[in-house]
Formats: sequence, C-alpha cells, structure tokens
Amino acid sequence: MTLRIRDLNKHYGETPVFANVTLDVAPGEFVAIVGESGVGKSTLLNCMAGLDHWDNGTVQIEGVDIGVLNEDARALLRREKVGFVFQAFHVLPHLDVFQNVALPLLLLGQPDDARVQAMLEAVGLGSLGHRLPQQLSGGQLQRVAIARALVHKPRLLLADEPTGNLDPTTAALVMNALVQQCRAQHASLVLVTHSVLATELADRVLHLSANGLGLL
Ligand SMILES: Nc1ncnc2c1ncn2[C@@H]1O[C@H](COP(=O)(O)OP(=O)(O)O)[C@@H](O)[C@H]1O
Ligand SMILES: [Mg+2]
Repeated sequence: MTLRIRDLNKHYGETPVFANVTLDVAPGEFVAIVGESGVGKSTLLNCMAGLDHWDNGTVQIEGVDIGVLNEDARALLRREKVGFVFQAFHVLPHLDVFQNVALPLLLLGQPDDARVQAMLEAVGLGSLGHRLPQQLSGGQLQRVAIARALVHKPRLLLADEPTGNLDPTTAALVMNALVQQCRAQHASLVLVTHSVLATELADRVLHLSANGLGLL
C-alpha cells in the first residue's frame, strides 16, 4: 500500500476532530474525501503528510510508520515520497514559475531542467516559465503548484480543496490537469474536495464524519 492508516484519532482538548479513521490507498489509486466544513478533513490530510500530530493510531507511507519518525525524518520522507497541493496556492513570490517548480528537485539534490519543463508543459504552462507568480491568474498559479507537487514523481499526492478558490470553468481545467498527471505518473491521490467532477473521476469517494471515514 502507498498509504495505510489504522484507527487514527485526534482531539483538541475535549473535542474530537476525527476518530476511527482506517484507510488503505493502493499504488495509483485516487481516493476523494468529502465531508461537512469543520469535520476535520484538512487536519486528517495534514496527519497523512506527517505535518500534524494525532493521538492514537498509525500512518504508514510506503511501509514506513511515520508516527515513530522525528520531524527531520518526516520532512525527508515527505520530500522524497509526497506532494502536497493546498487551497491557497503557496507559490513562492520571488521565484519565477520555472524556479518554483524546480525547487523540490533542488532540495533532493537532483536538478533536472528538462523534467521541470516537461511538467510545465504537462499542465499547459510551457511558455510561462519566466513569469513571476504575480503575473499569473489563480488557475495558472494552481497549475504551478500541481507541477511543483509532482515534479519529483512522488508516490503519494495529497490535495486539500485545490480548486476551492477558482471559478467553475478554471476549477474543471485544474482538476483535470491534476488527475491526469497523477494517473500518468501512477501516483496515488488523496483529494479533499467539494467538486462533483472530482468525485466522478475518483476510484472511491469516502465521507468523513464523526463516525470515521466511510462510503458515501
Ligand atoms: N489548532 C486548532 N486548535 C483547536 N481546534 C482546531 C485547530 N485547528 C482546527 N481546529 C478545529 O478542528 C476542526 C476540524 O478542522 P479542519 O480540519 O480544518 O476541518 P475541515 O477541513 O473539514 O473544514 C474544526 O472544528 C476546527 O475548528
Ligand atoms: Mg479544510
């Protein structure tokens, strides 16, 4: 399994955020997670990436139990095996588009300009590498974020409402680019979304509620 979660629980004080979350995501599988606002979707996704802490249960990425890793080891594992796309684009403003997408490869010590250019072309931004983020639209910025999240060929892509800030037409374009690229790279995708298009494209749609993660 690319991602294996068992009986994950998290509280803030007395208040449970989520409980009894169990999930297996196979290589190349696309799982969409839906649920009411405030039910803990973002928190759960952050736990899957080892960006947040939980109370009980286990999270394994490619067989590695990330709960026992320290912060440095988690960061290294993320750098190699995980990509993340947020609702807000989180593109670095002082780097141009090409440099933004190149960054994960530089951090891994594996610069590869041809790969960066291929990723830009794959998301329809092949001629915009020299632009600064401020010269792009929201849909273009999110495609930069997608290219950056996938440039190092992670086995697992986690996306938290990546089209939540976009108009419907742009959202469909961005969602298709995201899913197509994950499929092309055979990356597993866990996507938190309210998008009907996304749930139609997904292999499975799961509903997060106070009872855990279940079929809709
Ligand atoms: N740092 C925090 N301290 C206390 N409560 C928090 C904190 N972060 C999030 N929450 C609460 O946890 C719940 C889940 O939040 P979140 O994961 O953002 O939900 P969703 O993404 O499904 O909208 C919400 O009720 C939110 O208010
Ligand atoms: Mg959220």
